Amino acid sequence: EELNRPPLKLVGGMPIIGPFADNWENVERFQARGDDLLISTYPKSGTTWVSKIVDLILNGGDTEESQKGAIFERVPFLECSGPGVPSGTKILNKQDFPRVIKTHLQVEVLPRSFWDKKCKVIYVARNAKDVAVSYYHFYRMAYGHPEPGTWEEFLNSYMEGNVAFGRWSAHVKGWWRMRQHSEILYLFYEDMLEDPRREVQKVMKFLGKELSDEVVEKIVKHTSFQAMKNNPMANYSTFPCMDHSISPFMRKGILGDWKTHFTVSQNERFDEYYRQEMADTDLTFRM
Ligand code: PPS
Repeated sequence: EELNRPPLKLVGGMPIIGPFADNWENVERFQARGDDLLISTYPKSGTTWVSKIVDLILNGGDTEESQKGAIFERVPFLECSGPGVPSGTKILNKQDFPRVIKTHLQVEVLPRSFWDKKCKVIYVARNAKDVAVSYYHFYRMAYGHPEPGTWEEFLNSYMEGNVAFGRWSAHVKGWWRMRQHSEILYLFYEDMLEDPRREVQKVMKFLGKELSDEVVEKIVKHTSFQAMKNNPMANYSTFPCMDHSISPFMRKGILGDWKTHFTVSQNERFDEYYRQEMADTDLTFRM
């Protein structure tokens, strides 16, 4: 299989899955429209969760409508490409407007036209340690990625930014800075866990949508971890090139799973690294 663990390649200095890099020209020249909504995240930060929430809000809480396709079809992944996987630009260029688009790109390499057209952006950030753990298990099960090696080896690659989409810190800080220049709703996975209702309402306000309390309740219920884990349209069970028996896409969905993975010395080393990476920002996380 051609997609079997190809090496990462660089685009604009950012490492990315090899077959995605081979399609980069089509991503770079992608034409956004003013009414596109972009969902941007570093991998494993709540992309699928917020995508399902947005899809339901835009459909007025119509769960049947939202179930008409898998989440990766309803919210196409812009830079996704390669043999056997759905091509983001291809789907998007054929899709009806307005579109909701997923991306993991660092802010510096986002196609220009999103800025030119002043598209709204919802960014979701998740704490660096839980992302590392979630990403490690994702690398194991999604074999479009290089071999993660041991947890220790993966953690080293992650700290070096030698993983798909580069450094976590550069990603969250880059998009955090950008919110001064653009219409960006910056959300946190930890806030969504704490009070999903409140966060759904934040998204509604950002999208200019009013829905009854009853509908909001329905959306919260339909997008709970358990509901999404059991929902074939949300849990990626129909996506190619993933082996859910190695680790399910909907794995744990909690805050603090890093505590079961980081050794004391890994944690000390990471904390020191983290202090340096985050010294130049006011962005903070619960972890
Ligand atoms: S991806 O591949 O980057 O698009 O993955 P992404 O969707 O960003 O992140 C997957 C992690 O999000 C968890 N998840 C959820 N947590 C809580 N509630 C809901 N509804 C939910 N949906 C997805 C998912 O379990 C992954 O985290 P981990 O820690 O691995 O469980």
